Amino acid sequence: MDIRIETSRLVLRPWSEADIDQLTLGLNDLEVAKWLAFVPHPYSAVHAKDWVRRCQQIASAGTEPTAYEFAIELTSERRVIGGISLNKVDRTAGTGGGGIWIANGYQGRGYGREAFDAKIRFAFRELGLMKLVNGYFDGNESSWAMQRKLGYRPAGEVPSRCMADGRQTIEHLTTLLRSDWQDRED
Ligand SMILES: CC(C)(COP(=O)(O)OP(=O)(O)OC[C@H]1O[C@@H](n2cnc3c(N)ncnc32)[C@H](O)[C@@H]1OP(=O)(O)O)[C@@H](O)C(=O)NCCC(=O)NCCS
Repeated sequence: MDIRIETSRLVLRPWSEADIDQLTLGLNDLEVAKWLAFVPHPYSAVHAKDWVRRCQQIASAGTEPTAYEFAIELTSERRVIGGISLNKVDRTAGTGGGGIWIANGYQGRGYGREAFDAKIRFAFRELGLMKLVNGYFDGNESSWAMQRKLGYRPAGEVPSRCMADGRQTIEHLTTLLRSDWQDRED
């Protein structure tokens, strides 16, 4: 199922083979990968191809997927500047998770917040979920700042490990309830 979400400056759309170069460039950067749990380093075109193939399998896996993986394309440059996911979707429980990355050079311009906001809207409005669970590694002030501004609240912490540099760290868990989000929307 191919889903496209348009925002004022971005398009969230399925990954394709044509994105492999930009995906490799964006994630083969330890400054980005060190904040992500499951991105190896170095990150090669082989990793990117595998990822695109996996996303295509996920997208074709029935009418009620448990994960949505989007490339984030900057409309003005027609360039992929990051990725965002809504995963672990449990329609019975009304919950979902996910993550985001924005390539170095494109961070700090509001694109992360714009993409995350669109994902939240999709999860609550289109899928009818009630609660989103997220997190960030200890020290990732940009991610927490972005999430806090979108209404996420702290929800504990768990030990975690970063695949890119192998370090043991703490993941601060966060949650956003639809009711809180609706309050902010009104
Ligand atoms: C975290 C990340 C997705 C944020 O995306 P971004 O496009 O850089 O962030 P934005 O420009 O949308 O900023 C969102 C808000 O957080 C604020 N912010 C961003 N970085 C900040 C920092 N280091 N300290 C304080 N505030 C910060 C911005 O001012 C902005 O607030 P505003 O909307 O009121 O202006 C991006 O930096 C990134 O991909 N980092 C590397 C990978 C990563 O950390 N992924 C998330 C894993 S949990």
